[in-house]
Amino acid sequence: MKTIVFAASKGGVGKTTLCAALSSYASSASKKKKIAIVDLDPQGSLTAWWNQRQEERPELIEASAGNLSEMLEKAASAGYDYVFIDTPPGHMKTIETGISNADYVLVPCQPSPVDIAAIGDTLSAIEELGKPFAFVMNRVIARTRIGEQAILLLANHGKVAGVPVAQRTAFATAMTDGRSAPEVEGGKRAEEEIGALWKFLLSNLKTK
Ligand SMILES: Nc1ncnc2c1ncn2[C@@H]1O[C@H](COP(=O)(O)OP(=O)(O)OP(=O)(O)O)[C@@H](O)[C@H]1O
Ligand SMILES: [Mg+2]
Repeated sequence: MKTIVFAASKGGVGKTTLCAALSSYASSASKKKKIAIVDLDPQGSLTAWWNQRQEERPELIEASAGNLSEMLEKAASAGYDYVFIDTPPGHMKTIETGISNADYVLVPCQPSPVDIAAIGDTLSAIEELGKPFAFVMNRVIARTRIGEQAILLLANHGKVAGVPVAQRTAFATAMTDGRSAPEVEGGKRAEEEIGALWKFLLSNLKTK
C-alpha cells in the first residue's frame, strides 16, 4: 500500500482540492485498485465533499492523528492500494503525523512570493522525517510569467511536479457537489493536469 500525503502548513493552497481531484481521478483511472482517502483536518472539508459524493470510489477511512498509523495498518491488511491523506493548515503536530506515515508527500504551492516564503515549516518537517516529496504548483494563472518564476524558485528547494495545475473555475465549483474538477463538464483541462500529476506520482512511487 502506498500512502500519499498532501501537506502545507499554509492555508488555502489547494491541499483538499487536489486531494479530492487526485484520489477520484486515480479511482477512475485505476479501477482495479482499492483507493481511500483520510481527512486529518478537523475542519472536515474533504469529508464534507465525500459525503456529498454519488460515486463510491474513493472510499473514506475515518481516522485521526491519534490513530492514523493503526488505521493505515488495518487498511494495508484490508488490501488497499493507495490512501490519500489531507492535512490541516497550521497545526504542525498533525501535519507531522501525516508526513511520518507518508510514502510520498505532495506540497501544493501557489505561485506567489508570499506562498513560497511560507514553505519553510513544511519543508523542515518533511526533511527531518526523511520523506520523498514534490511541490505541486497550483492555481497558476495562464499567460503570466509568475508561474515559471515560482517553479524556478521552488526547484531550489526540491522536486517540482512536471505539470502545474492552473487556476480553473472547475476546481472550485466541482467541490460543492461531491465531484472533482476532472469529473465535471468543462473539466477536460483539469483532467489532463490531474492525469499528469497521477502519472508523475506513480513513477515517483516506483523509483522511490
Ligand atoms: N486550481 C484551482 N483553481 C481554482 N480554484 C482553486 C484551485 N485550487 C484550489 N482552489 C480554491 O482555493 C480555495 C482553497 O483550496 P483548498 O481548500 O483546497 O485549500 P487547502 O490548502 O485545503 O486549504 P486549508 O489549508 O484551509 O485546508 C478553495 O476555494 C478552492 O476551491
Ligand atoms: Mg483543506
